[in-house]
Amino acid sequence: MGLEKESLALLRDALERLEDGFAHLPEHEITVDLDRWRPVLLDAATRLQDNFPYQHPLYAGQMLKPPHPVARLAYMLALWINPNNHAYDGGRASSAMEKEAVAAIAHMFGWERHLGHLCGGGTLANMEALWIAGRLQPGKTVVASAQAHYTHQRLTDVLGLPFRVIPCDARAKMDANALEDVLRREEVGTVVATLGTTATGAVDPLPDILALRERYGFRLHVDAAYGGYFILADNLETETRTAFDRLAEADSIVVDPHKHGLQPYGCGCVLFRDPAVGRFYKHDSPYTYFSSADLHLGEISLECSRAGAAAVALWATQRLLPYIRGGEFARSLQDCRSAALALWQKIRCDDDFMTLFPPELDIVVWAPRAASAGDISRRSRALFQAAAGEDLHLAVAAFPRDIVEKTWSIQWDAESVYCLRSCLMKAEHREWLEAIWHRLRQALLGV
Ligand SMILES: Cc1ncc(COP(=O)(O)O)c(C=O)c1O
Repeated sequence: MGLEKESLALLRDALERLEDGFAHLPEHEITVDLDRWRPVLLDAATRLQDNFPYQHPLYAGQMLKPPHPVARLAYMLALWINPNNHAYDGGRASSAMEKEAVAAIAHMFGWERHLGHLCGGGTLANMEALWIAGRLQPGKTVVASAQAHYTHQRLTDVLGLPFRVIPCDARAKMDANALEDVLRREEVGTVVATLGTTATGAVDPLPDILALRERYGFRLHVDAAYGGYFILADNLETETRTAFDRLAEADSIVVDPHKHGLQPYGCGCVLFRDPAVGRFYKHDSPYTYFSSADLHLGEISLECSRAGAAAVALWATQRLLPYIRGGEFARSLQDCRSAALALWQKIRCDDDFMTLFPPELDIVVWAPRAASAGDISRRSRALFQAAAGEDLHLAVAAFPRDIVEKTWSIQWDAESVYCLRSCLMKAEHREWLEAIWHRLRQALLGV
Protein backbone atom coordinates (compact mmCIF):
# COMPACT_ATOMS: atom_id res chain seq x y z
CA MET A 1 0.00 0.00 0.00
CA GLY A 2 1.50 3.31 -1.07
CA LEU A 3 1.64 6.44 1.01
CA GLU A 4 -1.34 8.75 0.55
CA LYS A 5 -0.20 11.71 -1.58
CA GLU A 6 -3.42 12.81 -3.23
CA SER A 7 -4.25 15.24 -0.44
CA LEU A 8 -1.03 17.20 -1.07
CA ALA A 9 -2.87 19.24 -3.71
CA LEU A 10 -4.88 20.81 -0.89
CA LEU A 11 -1.72 22.10 0.72
CA ARG A 12 -0.97 24.29 -2.29
CA ASP A 13 -4.54 25.71 -2.21
CA ALA A 14 -4.29 26.39 1.50
CA LEU A 15 -0.87 28.03 1.11
CA GLU A 16 -2.28 30.35 -1.51
CA ARG A 17 -5.13 31.28 0.87
CA LEU A 18 -2.58 31.94 3.61
CA GLU A 19 -0.48 34.03 1.26
CA ASP A 20 -3.49 36.31 0.58
CA GLY A 21 -3.22 37.52 4.17
CA PHE A 22 0.26 38.92 3.55
CA ALA A 23 -0.23 40.17 -0.02
CA HIS A 24 0.18 43.82 0.98
CA LEU A 25 3.84 43.29 1.92
CA PRO A 26 6.59 44.16 -0.55
CA GLU A 27 7.96 41.13 -2.45
CA HIS A 28 11.04 39.56 -0.95
CA GLU A 29 13.18 37.06 -2.77
CA ILE A 30 13.47 33.52 -1.52
CA THR A 31 16.10 31.47 -3.29
CA VAL A 32 14.80 28.11 -4.38
CA ASP A 33 17.54 25.69 -5.32
CA LEU A 34 15.74 22.48 -6.17
CA ASP A 35 18.83 20.88 -7.69
CA ARG A 36 20.66 21.03 -4.35
CA TRP A 37 17.63 20.35 -2.16
CA ARG A 38 16.44 17.34 -4.12
CA PRO A 39 19.23 14.84 -3.37
CA VAL A 40 19.21 15.82 0.30
CA LEU A 41 15.49 15.22 0.60
CA LEU A 42 15.64 11.98 -1.35
CA ASP A 43 18.46 10.78 0.91
CA ALA A 44 16.25 11.58 3.91
CA ALA A 45 13.44 9.55 2.32
CA THR A 46 15.82 6.64 1.81
CA ARG A 47 16.92 6.83 5.44
CA LEU A 48 13.27 6.83 6.54
CA GLN A 49 12.67 3.52 4.76
CA ASP A 50 14.40 1.98 7.76
CA ASN A 51 11.21 1.93 9.83
CA PHE A 52 8.46 -0.44 10.74
CA PRO A 53 5.40 0.36 8.57
CA TYR A 54 3.59 2.35 11.28
CA GLN A 55 1.12 3.75 8.76
CA HIS A 56 -0.08 0.31 7.59
CA PRO A 57 -2.83 -1.79 9.26
CA LEU A 58 -0.40 -4.73 9.49
CA TYR A 59 1.50 -2.64 12.00
CA ALA A 60 -0.41 -3.68 15.13
CA GLY A 61 2.32 -3.39 17.72
CA GLN A 62 3.23 -0.40 19.86
CA MET A 63 1.09 2.63 20.61
CA LEU A 64 1.58 4.34 17.26
CA LYS A 65 -1.20 5.82 15.16
CA PRO A 66 -0.82 7.77 11.93
CA PRO A 67 -2.03 11.36 11.99
CA HIS A 68 -5.12 12.23 10.01
CA PRO A 69 -4.19 13.65 6.54
CA VAL A 70 -5.88 16.91 7.53
CA ALA A 71 -3.72 17.11 10.69
CA ARG A 72 -0.62 16.47 8.58
CA LEU A 73 -1.56 19.12 6.02
CA ALA A 74 -2.58 21.70 8.63
CA TYR A 75 0.71 21.15 10.47
CA MET A 76 2.68 21.63 7.24
CA LEU A 77 0.60 24.68 6.31
CA ALA A 78 1.50 26.33 9.61
CA LEU A 79 5.20 25.69 9.00
CA TRP A 80 5.30 28.39 6.33
CA ILE A 81 4.64 30.83 9.21
CA ASN A 82 6.19 28.65 11.96
CA PRO A 83 4.25 30.23 14.83
CA ASN A 84 5.47 29.88 18.41
CA ASN A 85 2.63 29.35 20.85
CA HIS A 86 4.54 30.64 23.81
CA ALA A 87 2.83 34.00 23.38
CA TYR A 88 0.50 35.94 21.13
CA ASP A 89 3.63 37.79 20.02
CA GLY A 90 4.90 34.55 18.45
CA GLY A 91 1.66 33.04 17.21
CA ARG A 92 -1.52 35.04 17.47
CA ALA A 93 -3.85 32.90 15.37
CA SER A 94 -2.39 29.58 16.49
CA SER A 95 -2.62 30.60 20.18
CA ALA A 96 -6.31 31.38 19.72
CA MET A 97 -6.73 28.05 17.89
CA GLU A 98 -4.98 26.25 20.75
CA LYS A 99 -7.35 27.78 23.29
CA GLU A 100 -10.33 26.64 21.22
CA ALA A 101 -8.90 23.15 20.68
CA VAL A 102 -8.08 22.72 24.37
CA ALA A 103 -11.55 23.97 25.36
CA ALA A 104 -13.02 21.28 23.07
CA ILE A 105 -11.01 18.62 24.91
CA ALA A 106 -12.10 20.01 28.29
CA HIS A 107 -15.71 20.04 27.08
CA MET A 108 -15.38 16.39 26.03
CA PHE A 109 -14.48 15.59 29.66
CA GLY A 110 -17.41 17.67 30.94
CA TRP A 111 -15.50 20.80 31.98
CA GLU A 112 -16.84 24.15 30.82
CA ARG A 113 -14.28 25.97 32.99
CA HIS A 114 -10.70 24.80 33.04
CA LEU A 115 -7.09 25.86 32.75
CA GLY A 116 -5.06 23.94 30.22
CA HIS A 117 -2.82 23.93 27.20
CA LEU A 118 -1.00 21.72 24.75
CA CYS A 119 2.55 20.56 25.32
CA GLY A 120 5.15 18.18 23.93
CA GLY A 121 3.42 14.98 25.06
CA GLY A 122 2.11 12.89 27.92
CA THR A 123 5.29 12.99 29.97
CA LEU A 124 5.47 16.75 30.05
CA ALA A 125 1.72 17.05 30.61
CA ASN A 126 1.93 14.68 33.60
CA MET A 127 4.94 16.60 34.88
CA GLU A 128 2.91 19.81 34.96
CA ALA A 129 0.00 18.12 36.70
CA LEU A 130 2.36 16.64 39.32
CA TRP A 131 4.20 19.91 39.70
CA ILE A 132 0.93 21.70 40.54
CA ALA A 133 -0.05 18.77 42.80
CA GLY A 134 3.27 19.15 44.64
CA ARG A 135 2.81 22.90 45.02
CA LEU A 136 -0.61 22.28 46.59
CA GLN A 137 0.50 19.32 48.73
CA PRO A 138 4.16 20.09 49.41
CA GLY A 139 6.31 17.13 50.47
CA LYS A 140 3.41 14.66 50.45
CA THR A 141 3.57 11.29 48.71
CA VAL A 142 2.37 10.70 45.16
CA VAL A 143 1.03 7.20 44.48
CA ALA A 144 0.31 5.41 41.19
CA SER A 145 -0.36 1.80 40.26
CA ALA A 146 2.34 -0.69 39.38
CA GLN A 147 1.05 -0.50 35.80
CA ALA A 148 1.08 3.33 35.63
CA HIS A 149 3.43 4.83 33.06
CA TYR A 150 7.04 4.52 34.23
CA THR A 151 7.60 8.26 33.93
CA HIS A 152 5.45 9.08 36.99
CA GLN A 153 8.10 7.71 39.32
CA ARG A 154 10.86 9.54 37.48
CA LEU A 155 8.87 12.78 37.38
CA THR A 156 8.29 12.72 41.13
CA ASP A 157 12.04 12.27 41.50
CA VAL A 158 12.60 15.37 39.36
CA LEU A 159 10.02 17.25 41.45
CA GLY A 160 11.47 16.03 44.74
CA LEU A 161 8.25 14.31 45.85
CA PRO A 162 8.05 10.92 47.59
CA PHE A 163 6.54 8.19 45.40
CA ARG A 164 4.88 4.88 46.21
CA VAL A 165 3.66 2.07 43.96
CA ILE A 166 0.18 0.58 44.52
CA PRO A 167 -0.18 -3.10 43.48
CA CYS A 168 -2.58 -4.15 40.75
CA ASP A 169 -5.35 -6.72 40.65
CA ALA A 170 -5.69 -9.63 38.21
CA ARG A 171 -6.85 -7.26 35.46
CA ALA A 172 -3.82 -4.98 35.85
CA LYS A 173 -5.89 -2.21 37.44
CA MET A 174 -4.97 -0.36 40.62
CA ASP A 175 -6.09 -2.44 43.62
CA ALA A 176 -8.33 -0.05 45.57
CA ASN A 177 -7.93 -2.09 48.79
CA ALA A 178 -4.16 -1.84 48.52
CA LEU A 179 -4.56 1.90 47.94
CA GLU A 180 -6.63 2.22 51.09
CA ASP A 181 -3.96 0.34 53.10
CA VAL A 182 -1.44 2.97 52.05
CA LEU A 183 -3.85 5.85 52.68
CA ARG A 184 -4.39 4.60 56.24
CA ARG A 185 -0.67 4.50 56.97
CA GLU A 186 0.79 7.41 55.06
CA GLU A 187 0.03 11.00 54.22
CA VAL A 188 -0.71 10.76 50.52
CA GLY A 189 -0.96 14.09 48.71
CA THR A 190 -1.83 12.85 45.24
CA VAL A 191 -3.24 9.71 43.68
CA VAL A 192 -2.53 9.17 40.00
CA ALA A 193 -5.24 7.05 38.39
CA THR A 194 -4.55 5.74 34.91
CA LEU A 195 -7.48 5.50 32.51
CA GLY A 196 -5.92 3.29 29.90
CA THR A 197 -2.57 1.88 31.00
CA THR A 198 0.22 1.69 28.48
CA ALA A 199 0.72 -2.07 28.63
CA THR A 200 -2.87 -3.33 28.60
CA GLY A 201 -5.26 -0.37 28.36
CA ALA A 202 -6.60 -1.18 31.84
CA VAL A 203 -8.78 1.49 33.43
CA ASP A 204 -8.20 2.10 37.14
CA PRO A 205 -11.36 1.90 39.32
CA LEU A 206 -12.15 5.61 39.42
CA PRO A 207 -15.43 5.34 41.40
CA ASP A 208 -13.60 3.44 44.20
CA ILE A 209 -10.74 5.94 44.14
CA LEU A 210 -13.20 8.84 44.30
CA ALA A 211 -14.91 7.21 47.30
CA LEU A 212 -11.51 7.01 49.00
CA ARG A 213 -10.89 10.68 48.19
CA GLU A 214 -14.05 11.51 50.18
CA ARG A 215 -12.51 9.81 53.20
CA TYR A 216 -8.83 10.67 52.84
CA GLY A 217 -8.90 13.99 50.97
CA PHE A 218 -6.07 13.61 48.46
CA ARG A 219 -5.63 15.31 45.09
CA LEU A 220 -6.62 13.16 42.12
CA HIS A 221 -4.72 13.31 38.87
CA VAL A 222 -5.92 11.16 35.97
CA ASP A 223 -3.40 10.06 33.39
CA ALA A 224 -5.65 9.47 30.40
CA ALA A 225 -2.81 10.11 27.94
CA TYR A 226 -3.74 6.96 26.08
CA GLY A 227 -7.34 6.24 27.00
CA GLY A 228 -8.92 9.69 27.39
CA TYR A 229 -10.65 9.82 24.03
CA PHE A 230 -12.50 6.58 24.81
CA ILE A 231 -14.89 8.71 26.86
CA LEU A 232 -16.63 9.16 23.49
CA ALA A 233 -16.95 5.44 22.72
CA ASP A 234 -20.32 3.74 23.03
CA ASN A 235 -19.04 0.17 23.21
CA LEU A 236 -17.26 0.12 26.58
CA GLU A 237 -18.05 -2.38 29.34
CA THR A 238 -20.28 -0.90 32.07
CA GLU A 239 -17.46 -0.78 34.61
CA THR A 240 -15.20 1.09 32.17
CA ARG A 241 -18.00 3.45 31.18
CA THR A 242 -18.65 4.26 34.82
CA ALA A 243 -15.00 5.22 35.30
CA PHE A 244 -15.07 7.54 32.28
CA ASP A 245 -18.39 9.03 33.43
CA ARG A 246 -16.71 10.16 36.67
CA LEU A 247 -13.62 11.63 34.99
CA ALA A 248 -14.90 15.18 35.41
CA GLU A 249 -14.42 14.81 39.18
CA ALA A 250 -10.62 14.60 38.81
CA ASP A 251 -8.48 17.62 39.76
CA SER A 252 -6.33 17.33 36.67
CA ILE A 253 -6.40 15.25 33.48
CA VAL A 254 -3.80 14.47 30.86
CA VAL A 255 -4.72 13.29 27.38
CA ASP A 256 -2.47 12.97 24.34
CA PRO A 257 -3.91 14.06 21.01
CA HIS A 258 -0.76 12.48 19.52
CA LYS A 259 -1.94 9.06 20.68
CA HIS A 260 -5.62 8.57 19.85
CA GLY A 261 -6.36 12.11 18.67
CA LEU A 262 -4.95 11.63 15.16
CA GLN A 263 -2.14 14.17 15.65
CA PRO A 264 1.53 14.22 14.69
CA TYR A 265 3.94 13.83 17.62
CA GLY A 266 4.44 16.80 19.85
CA CYS A 267 0.84 17.12 21.02
CA GLY A 268 -0.01 16.38 24.64
CA CYS A 269 -2.59 18.22 26.73
CA VAL A 270 -2.88 18.99 30.43
CA LEU A 271 -6.08 20.27 32.01
CA PHE A 272 -6.86 21.55 35.50
CA ARG A 273 -10.38 21.70 36.90
CA ASP A 274 -9.62 24.78 38.98
CA PRO A 275 -8.30 27.63 36.80
CA ALA A 276 -6.94 29.30 39.96
CA VAL A 277 -3.89 27.00 39.84
CA GLY A 278 -2.68 29.41 37.16
CA ARG A 279 -1.19 31.43 40.05
CA PHE A 280 1.67 28.93 40.33
CA TYR A 281 2.79 29.71 36.79
CA LYS A 282 3.17 33.42 37.42
CA HIS A 283 6.40 34.85 36.12
CA ASP A 284 7.65 38.16 34.80
CA SER A 285 9.14 37.94 31.38
CA PRO A 286 10.77 41.22 30.38
CA TYR A 287 10.75 40.41 26.67
CA THR A 288 7.76 38.39 25.55
CA TYR A 289 4.33 39.79 26.29
CA PHE A 290 3.60 42.98 24.42
CA SER A 291 0.90 42.26 21.91
CA SER A 292 -2.16 41.80 24.14
CA ALA A 293 -3.41 42.07 27.68
CA ASP A 294 -4.97 38.57 27.47
CA LEU A 295 -3.32 35.71 29.32
CA HIS A 296 -0.68 34.34 26.92
CA LEU A 297 -0.17 30.57 26.79
CA GLY A 298 3.36 31.04 28.08
CA GLU A 299 1.88 32.45 31.30
CA ILE A 300 0.04 29.21 31.96
CA SER A 301 2.57 26.60 30.82
CA LEU A 302 5.97 25.39 31.98
CA GLU A 303 7.54 25.30 28.55
CA CYS A 304 8.49 28.46 26.70
CA SER A 305 8.63 27.91 22.91
CA ARG A 306 6.11 25.45 21.51
CA ALA A 307 5.01 24.50 18.00
CA GLY A 308 1.99 26.57 17.02
CA ALA A 309 1.70 24.09 14.14
CA ALA A 310 0.58 21.40 16.62
CA ALA A 311 -2.36 23.58 17.66
CA VAL A 312 -3.29 24.33 14.05
CA ALA A 313 -3.27 20.60 13.24
CA LEU A 314 -5.41 19.73 16.25
CA TRP A 315 -7.85 22.57 15.61
CA ALA A 316 -8.27 21.51 11.96
CA THR A 317 -8.79 17.86 12.91
CA GLN A 318 -11.44 18.80 15.46
CA ARG A 319 -13.21 20.90 12.82
CA LEU A 320 -13.40 17.87 10.55
CA LEU A 321 -14.09 15.33 13.28
CA PRO A 322 -15.74 17.01 16.28
CA TYR A 323 -15.65 15.25 19.63
CA ILE A 324 -19.24 14.04 19.85
CA ARG A 325 -20.58 10.72 21.00
CA GLY A 326 -21.93 8.85 18.02
CA GLY A 327 -19.90 11.06 15.64
CA GLU A 328 -17.34 9.91 13.08
CA PHE A 329 -14.37 10.31 15.43
CA ALA A 330 -16.14 8.43 18.23
CA ARG A 331 -17.08 5.65 15.80
CA SER A 332 -13.47 5.26 14.72
CA LEU A 333 -12.50 4.64 18.37
CA GLN A 334 -15.33 2.15 18.67
CA ASP A 335 -13.94 0.35 15.62
CA CYS A 336 -10.54 0.07 17.34
CA ARG A 337 -12.17 -1.47 20.37
CA SER A 338 -14.28 -3.83 18.23
CA ALA A 339 -11.12 -4.94 16.42
CA ALA A 340 -9.42 -5.65 19.75
CA LEU A 341 -12.43 -7.60 21.03
CA ALA A 342 -12.63 -9.62 17.81
CA LEU A 343 -8.92 -10.50 17.93
CA TRP A 344 -9.18 -11.44 21.60
CA GLN A 345 -12.17 -13.73 20.83
CA LYS A 346 -10.19 -15.55 18.17
CA ILE A 347 -7.16 -15.94 20.41
CA ARG A 348 -9.27 -17.05 23.37
CA CYS A 349 -10.92 -19.80 21.35
CA ASP A 350 -7.60 -21.12 20.07
CA ASP A 351 -5.90 -23.76 22.24
CA ASP A 352 -2.47 -22.74 21.01
CA PHE A 353 -2.75 -19.43 22.85
CA MET A 354 -3.37 -18.20 26.38
CA THR A 355 -5.08 -14.90 27.30
CA LEU A 356 -5.02 -12.96 30.55
CA PHE A 357 -8.12 -10.78 30.41
CA PRO A 358 -10.33 -9.20 27.72
CA PRO A 359 -9.20 -5.84 26.32
CA GLU A 360 -10.74 -2.97 28.24
CA LEU A 361 -10.00 -0.50 25.44
CA ASP A 362 -8.15 -1.62 22.29
CA ILE A 363 -4.98 -3.34 23.53
CA VAL A 364 -4.84 -7.13 23.41
CA VAL A 365 -2.39 -9.18 25.51
CA TRP A 366 -1.79 -12.90 24.99
CA ALA A 367 0.90 -15.55 24.69
CA PRO A 368 1.60 -18.84 22.92
CA ARG A 369 0.69 -21.68 25.24
CA ALA A 370 3.49 -23.18 27.37
CA ALA A 371 3.88 -24.58 30.86
CA SER A 372 6.41 -22.22 32.43
CA ALA A 373 7.04 -18.49 32.53
CA GLY A 374 10.41 -19.01 30.83
CA ASP A 375 8.93 -21.02 27.95
CA ILE A 376 6.04 -18.60 27.48
CA SER A 377 8.54 -15.72 27.30
CA ARG A 378 10.73 -17.57 24.80
CA ARG A 379 7.78 -18.49 22.60
CA SER A 380 6.35 -14.95 22.78
CA ARG A 381 9.63 -13.47 21.59
CA ALA A 382 9.93 -16.09 18.86
CA LEU A 383 6.37 -15.42 17.68
CA PHE A 384 7.05 -11.69 17.67
CA GLN A 385 9.99 -12.32 15.28
CA ALA A 386 8.11 -14.86 13.16
CA ALA A 387 5.11 -12.52 12.81
CA ALA A 388 7.43 -9.71 11.63
CA GLY A 389 8.63 -12.20 8.99
CA GLU A 390 4.98 -12.36 7.84
CA ASP A 391 4.91 -8.52 7.78
CA LEU A 392 2.69 -8.51 10.86
CA HIS A 393 4.18 -6.23 13.49
CA LEU A 394 3.28 -6.90 17.11
CA ALA A 395 4.85 -5.83 20.40
CA VAL A 396 6.14 -7.74 23.42
CA ALA A 397 5.52 -6.70 27.02
CA ALA A 398 6.68 -8.14 30.35
CA PHE A 399 4.11 -8.73 33.10
CA PRO A 400 5.01 -9.34 36.73
CA ARG A 401 4.23 -12.61 38.43
CA ASP A 402 1.90 -11.03 41.03
CA ILE A 403 -0.57 -10.01 38.30
CA VAL A 404 -0.27 -13.05 36.03
CA GLU A 405 -0.38 -15.76 38.69
CA LYS A 406 -3.90 -14.63 39.61
CA THR A 407 -5.02 -16.03 36.21
CA TRP A 408 -2.47 -18.50 34.86
CA SER A 409 -1.42 -21.69 36.66
CA ILE A 410 2.08 -22.03 35.29
CA GLN A 411 5.51 -22.87 36.66
CA TRP A 412 7.30 -19.78 37.85
CA ASP A 413 10.94 -20.09 36.84
CA ALA A 414 11.13 -16.28 36.43
CA GLU A 415 9.58 -13.33 38.23
CA SER A 416 7.93 -11.97 35.09
CA VAL A 417 6.60 -13.31 31.84
CA TYR A 418 6.82 -11.86 28.35
CA CYS A 419 3.57 -11.77 26.41
CA LEU A 420 2.54 -10.45 23.04
CA ARG A 421 0.80 -7.11 22.98
CA SER A 422 -1.11 -5.51 20.15
CA CYS A 423 -2.44 -1.94 20.09
CA LEU A 424 -5.26 -2.07 17.55
CA MET A 425 -5.50 1.69 17.36
CA LYS A 426 -6.29 2.16 13.69
CA ALA A 427 -9.97 2.05 12.73
CA GLU A 428 -8.93 -0.08 9.70
CA HIS A 429 -7.70 -2.81 12.02
CA ARG A 430 -11.26 -4.07 12.12
CA GLU A 431 -11.35 -4.73 8.38
CA TRP A 432 -7.86 -6.18 8.49
CA LEU A 433 -8.59 -8.59 11.29
CA GLU A 434 -8.79 -11.72 9.14
CA ALA A 435 -5.49 -10.82 7.45
CA ILE A 436 -3.90 -10.21 10.87
CA TRP A 437 -5.24 -13.50 12.23
CA HIS A 438 -4.11 -15.45 9.17
CA ARG A 439 -0.55 -14.11 9.47
CA LEU A 440 -0.49 -14.72 13.20
CA ARG A 441 -1.50 -18.38 12.72
CA GLN A 442 1.02 -18.71 9.91
CA ALA A 443 3.79 -17.29 12.11
CA LEU A 444 2.88 -19.68 14.92
CA LEU A 445 3.71 -22.67 12.68
CA GLY A 446 7.39 -21.76 12.88
CA VAL A 447 7.52 -21.21 16.65
C1 LIG B 1 -0.71 6.23 30.10
C2 LIG B 1 0.47 6.98 29.55
N1 LIG B 1 0.94 8.05 30.20
C3 LIG B 1 1.99 8.75 29.76
C4 LIG B 1 2.66 8.39 28.61
C5 LIG B 1 3.83 9.19 28.12
O1 LIG B 1 3.46 9.92 26.99
P1 LIG B 1 4.51 10.52 25.97
O2 LIG B 1 5.21 9.34 25.35
O3 LIG B 1 3.67 11.27 25.00
O4 LIG B 1 5.45 11.39 26.72
C6 LIG B 1 2.22 7.26 27.90
C7 LIG B 1 2.93 6.82 26.70
O5 LIG B 1 2.69 5.78 26.14
C8 LIG B 1 1.09 6.54 28.38
O6 LIG B 1 0.63 5.45 27.75
